[in-house]
Amino acid sequence: MRIFSGIQPTGDKHLGNWSGGFRQYAATQEQGDAFFCIVDLHSITVEYDTEELRERTLDLAAMLFATGLDTERSTVFIQSHVPAHPEAAWLLASVASFGELRRMTQFKDKADRQEFVSAGLFSYPVLQAADILLYQADGVPVGEDQRQHIELARNIAERFNARYGDTLALPEMIAPSEGGRIMDLQEPERKMSTTGGSPQGTVRLLDPPDVLRKKFKTAVTDSGSEVRRAPDKPGISNLIEILSAVTGDGMDAIETRYDGEGYGRFKEEVGEAVVGLLGPIQRRYEELRSDPRELQRLLARGAEKAREVSEPTLQTMLDRMGLVRSEVGRNFGAARPREL
Ligand code: TYM
Repeated sequence: MRIFSGIQPTGDKHLGNWSGGFRQYAATQEQGDAFFCIVDLHSITVEYDTEELRERTLDLAAMLFATGLDTERSTVFIQSHVPAHPEAAWLLASVASFGELRRMTQFKDKADRQEFVSAGLFSYPVLQAADILLYQADGVPVGEDQRQHIELARNIAERFNARYGDTLALPEMIAPSEGGRIMDLQEPERKMSTTGGSPQGTVRLLDPPDVLRKKFKTAVTDSGSEVRRAPDKPGISNLIEILSAVTGDGMDAIETRYDGEGYGRFKEEVGEAVVGLLGPIQRRYEELRSDPRELQRLLARGAEKAREVSEPTLQTMLDRMGLVRSEVGRNFGAARPREL
């Protein structure tokens, strides 16, 4: 079983990313041959700071290892280190339609927040499809917000196969049974996000314990006093889901445990559970982040493996699409044309 997933380096990583992303990466690496990609080429599609992007890329590598990726089992690499990704994206851009890209809700949401809407932001899901399809991935661990993008990748693969012959595996989304969509603690009708959420309602993975406790203590709850999931109780439902994701306890069991209790103690205990989860992660993160050379060494090794594995698919795609093979071949070790 081949696993692939990607995560953006920009924006502070939060509890939603842990639940839909990091947690699932660590779990799925046990199921097969796993590739996890820091998608820096996706992050340049909206306004960003160049120096910050460089730092954030290494921050994210440290977080991926701190949350449990093991270099013996997983290949962790930076997207821009593997030129097959943008190359395959160009090929697939002719297999994706303008209409289907225009319907992507993430594009619409993000475009609404930008003054300058780049062509890169529009074709973003094609690059994501290339990421996945180049590795012939069977499973893609992600949160619910990526469902439409994974479906698009499947559609693109199916269309490619129908036009050019069976070449690309059709990926399946792997979503967690609970915690696939963690909501903002202050505005539980919107998903937790560092770009679109409220600062106080966004639980950052690097928040110190007192900040974490306060965020949970002040989380909005609903009228009533029962710890129970219900459509008119989005705040409490979200906290139950968070506690379930963090502890592994079922949501029904959590409701039973807090039967007859008020919101106060429940919120406090969710906060404590999150502090307990993140403490060891934060310590490992600081340790890993203090050695950037080691991180770069691990990422270089990851990129080498990723290039080896993705290249045959890219070559087959080029071939099936009728492009003449280069006699020169590809030399990845070549020096950059311009040393700045
Ligand atoms: P990104 O970087 O926004 O998010 C990384 C992962 O975190 C999940 N996630 C959440 N899960 C639950 N609740 C939330 N509130 C929440 N917010 C974020 C996301 O679902 C994701 O799994 N387009 C992708 C990156 C990407 C990718 C790929 C993913 C690029 N190529 C190939 C999979 C396969 C993105 O921006 O994720």
